Amino acid sequence: MGTRIGLGLLGLGTVGAGVAEILQNPEGRHPLIGELELVRVAVRDLQRSRPVELPAAVLTTDPETVVDDPAVQVVVEVMGGIEPARTLIMRAIAAGKSVVTANKAVIAHHGEEIASAAAAAGVYVLIEAAVGGGIPIIEPLKQSLGGNRIERVSGIINGTTNYILTRMAQEGAAYQAVLKDAQDLGYAEADPAADVEGLDAADKIAILSGLAFGGPIERAAIPTQGISTLQSRDVDYAKQLGYVVKLLAVAERLQTTTQDQTSLPLALRVQPTLIPNEHPLAGVNGVNNAILVEGDPIGRVMFYGPGAGAGPTASAVVADILNIAGIRQLENANGCLDPLLAANSWRACHLVHPNAIQQRNYVRFKAKNAPGVIGQIGNCFGACDISIQSIVQFDASEADAEIVVITHEVSQGQMHDALKAITNLPEIKGLIAHLGCL
Ligand SMILES: NC(=O)c1ccc[n+]([C@@H]2O[C@H](COP(=O)([O-])OP(=O)(O)OC[C@H]3O[C@@H](n4cnc5c(N)ncnc54)[C@H](OP(=O)(O)O)[C@@H]3O)[C@@H](O)[C@H]2O)c1
Repeated sequence: MGTRIGLGLLGLGTVGAGVAEILQNPEGRHPLIGELELVRVAVRDLQRSRPVELPAAVLTTDPETVVDDPAVQVVVEVMGGIEPARTLIMRAIAAGKSVVTANKAVIAHHGEEIASAAAAAGVYVLIEAAVGGGIPIIEPLKQSLGGNRIERVSGIINGTTNYILTRMAQEGAAYQAVLKDAQDLGYAEADPAADVEGLDAADKIAILSGLAFGGPIERAAIPTQGISTLQSRDVDYAKQLGYVVKLLAVAERLQTTTQDQTSLPLALRVQPTLIPNEHPLAGVNGVNNAILVEGDPIGRVMFYGPGAGAGPTASAVVADILNIAGIRQLENANGCLDPLLAANSWRACHLVHPNAIQQRNYVRFKAKNAPGVIGQIGNCFGACDISIQSIVQFDASEADAEIVVITHEVSQGQMHDALKAITNLPEIKGLIAHLGCL
């Protein structure tokens, strides 16, 4: 393929270590990952033990040397906080280097300044990991949904508060008790203010709405209410009325009443909100995140998945790095297509024989209503080494019975052998249904 790309990593904490781990294990991933080289990594404490091993010479406590290293072409900022992250990002841009960052705080507060500098320098600043962790939402808003007029973006975009609210709803537990548990489990920071006061969600909805509606968002003007004063009694009353309480971030376009088309009126808010049980966001529980985008003509589309954590967040960071790597290949080689957009095959694949497919199964037999039939069916499955999750007899009449079996995961070859043996039993009148089961 093309030339190698030197990466400078600012931070080797949860996300940084996740990124390094992907780069060190390119096997089975897109071949462009093999072109990426981790050149320099900045940390605060050189003595700290890390989940990934890197040569000592790669590590430094001086992040500026990472940005300035001529072998670093792309700077990956995963250190967090506003400063020195902002200054380092601006320094990378000034040096003509593209940047990938997971830092929602710096983008929500300084995104305009950073984007203008990047545009002037002709480099990219990509931020997929800044909202929704592993959920691809930034690129869809920029590209895949580009043909739509976006009406509303709403979502559960803070995993810590969603974990707390889920447990309050399911166990009737009090806020303070669940917060302490969340801290013990590592889902909440020792200082949880950014999460529980809604500030993190406000950073993220500022970023999402900037992309969805195309203009800069004044982060400080977003009305923000967290969950720290929410009482379990309200969660309980909501439940009795058919609702769940979620910390919802909402951004919606309002109808313009004046002829002034120069500025689009938007309503943004972060607030604990009752969501009807049947709403698609109501079933988003634990540390998961989901973002619902409503637009014309697509209607509603929901993005759901793990909103944080080393692996999911690193997945988003590496996707951004690959996008930049693909663009660089395009620039370097005349007539070459972007290897990600073109999506050409890069290895051989083949389908296994259907008998080798492993899955759980649902089967329904019509049988004579005779003693011992269930035992015989069980024996046939056992002889083929298939374990049964459940076997139930339904609808027994004088003559016939319906027997439903759900198996554990098994190859379809074994399943066919067992079904052949079962349908040959004199008590079995037929196999009526054979479905897959997740
Ligand atoms: N964690 C998640 O699940 C997640 C999800 C989405 C987005 N993010 C964002 O990703 C970013 C990183 O988060 P994280 O959880 O990985 O943080 P983290 O675990 O605290 O790691 C931060 C890393 O940056 C290094 N660092 C911080 N300040 C530094 C400085 N001044 N000079 C040199 N190194 C410095 C730290 O060094 P030491 O290791 O030596 O202390 C550490 O390796 C944040 O912006 C966060 O909001 C995180």
